[in-house]
Amino acid sequence: MDRISILCIYLDKCSTFADVACDHGYCAQYMLENNMCESAVISDISDKCLKKAETLLSEYIKKGVCRAVCCDGLEGVDGQTEQILIAGIGGEEIVKILKNAFIPKAFVFQPMKNAEVVREYLIENGCALTVDGIFTDGKNYYFIIKGKNCGGEQTYTKAELLYGRDSLKSPVFKNYLKEQIEKKRAYLMRDMTDEHRKRLEADVSFMQGVLNGEID
Ligand SMILES: C[S@@+](CC[C@H](N)C(=O)[O-])C[C@H]1O[C@@H](n2cnc3c(N)ncnc32)[C@H](O)[C@@H]1O
Repeated sequence: MDRISILCIYLDKCSTFADVACDHGYCAQYMLENNMCESAVISDISDKCLKKAETLLSEYIKKGVCRAVCCDGLEGVDGQTEQILIAGIGGEEIVKILKNAFIPKAFVFQPMKNAEVVREYLIENGCALTVDGIFTDGKNYYFIIKGKNCGGEQTYTKAELLYGRDSLKSPVFKNYLKEQIEKKRAYLMRDMTDEHRKRLEADVSFMQGVLNGEID
């Protein structure tokens, strides 16, 4: 299955939905076509990218159940939107978007890198992460973070923060970690400063500990 199809499985039925950084708009299309939402907002910082989604969803826009907005992050999105998806951009960028606006009531985030900064920010701000896992489309691995901005406290270990609480129990994650360890070991064959080598070796040792179930 491709990344978008897997991503859509994590989306819940809701009344209002926003696909932020939508580009093509396939996720909003899934929500509207399958009656998973009553109305949707599609937004993107790039007018050119947003145009693709506007073309794809023109029928829904005509009907008045889809609104397109060209904006940075959540700037043009109502804070009361029931469920918001931000996928396919970096974790640092997702956190920047949240800091500039608000944490959605219910969210699905799929950062392309630095997922740990997203987890950290959400947990620090009292969100409950209901899904904090990993999936693969057969080529690449993706972290998926779904939850609610409901207040409360969650205590995460270092490994949970780095990889996601649900990932640690997943066979997909074990394959991911094995690949990461292999990559780092191959990298260690190169010339580098002692300091860099020490850091890499510590990373590998930590990852191996997580893989062996010795660190949680
Ligand atoms: C790789 S596409 C991801 C599209 C889709 N969400 C997905 O998961 O396939 C990244 C999109 O994010 C948009 N983008 C990047 N930073 C953004 C921001 N701060 N606010 C809104 N859109 C942004 C880009 O213009 C681009 O269309």
